[in-house]
Amino acid sequence: MRKLILSAASAAMLALAGPAAAQSPIVIKFSHVVAPNTPKGLAAEKFKELADKYTEGKVKVEVYPNSQLYKDKEELDALQLGAVQMLAPSISKFGPAGVKEFEVFDLPYILPDIAALRKVTTGPVGTKLFKLLDAKGMTGLAYWDNGFKIMSANKKLVTPEDYKGLKFRIQSSKVLDAQFRSLGAIPQVMAFSEVYQALQTGVVDGQENTPSNMYTQKMHEVQKYTTLTNHGYIGYAVIVNKKFWDGIPAEIRTQLDKAMVEATDFGNSQSQKENDDALAEMKKSGKTELITLTPEQNSAMRKAMAPVYDDVSGRIGKGLIEEFLKESGGGPTK
Ligand code: LMR
Repeated sequence: MRKLILSAASAAMLALAGPAAAQSPIVIKFSHVVAPNTPKGLAAEKFKELADKYTEGKVKVEVYPNSQLYKDKEELDALQLGAVQMLAPSISKFGPAGVKEFEVFDLPYILPDIAALRKVTTGPVGTKLFKLLDAKGMTGLAYWDNGFKIMSANKKLVTPEDYKGLKFRIQSSKVLDAQFRSLGAIPQVMAFSEVYQALQTGVVDGQENTPSNMYTQKMHEVQKYTTLTNHGYIGYAVIVNKKFWDGIPAEIRTQLDKAMVEATDFGNSQSQKENDDALAEMKKSGKTELITLTPEQNSAMRKAMAPVYDDVSGRIGKGLIEEFLKESGGGPTK
């Protein structure tokens, strides 16, 4: 795969250096792994539209959804090598690219709601995390929302004991690994594009995701029970290849920044609705039973997952966790 990515990268360089470079539009390949009709898919399309409008056609954004070009880990390699120029990976996927601090977002119950999330991403923690990308050849442009995660399996998941011994697909985050281990479950890292089939064939028993991701991948059709735990959050860091971005003429980059701000506002203002609609559709389908936890059942889940904070403090940094908690006002016992 690396070989393929490399040849795509050199083709992109050649295209930039060619004789027609001055007149041809700057092409931004934007690869992502979800469906077009999801919070990320819609925000990406909005950015494409606004980038074209504000740069008067000087920049063409090509959006490749559904892992069409690259799967989870590959897309980060592709960005760093310059085969694609823009991505919006889930914040839970930066560990393998060497920026493990982003995994702080994965701590169970660290974000009580979207207002808390916004406080963190627009505050010093959000800025500090983006700075860490520089050394890896990437620039962070924006934080995009998806929403809060729910759990699913073919078994009713009500108490922490229900998770014992079940295999759960996770994104490549050590915090998510610790989270499922705290419940006695067996976590398994897997690319997003492979989850539906893994659930269908029983390679894994369950998974966690947002309603919009579950619904657009038809996961609810192969999971008899879905529990509305809202124990964690999925959002995205929109990133670009730093060298590419810095090489764009300043006046064009200003227009792209403007397009990004507006696409971000657009996406973040409707992600909640996307998830509410997806949950309503899942319910209507009758294929999965939606389970709501009582306050007591909720506290039992929080209590079971609380040790994760200590388990991962060496990896994420105690200071960063404390700073995050101060801004978000969350935590397992809140
Ligand atoms: C997942 O891999 O479960 C999601 O983060 C995919 C995505 O980009 O929303």
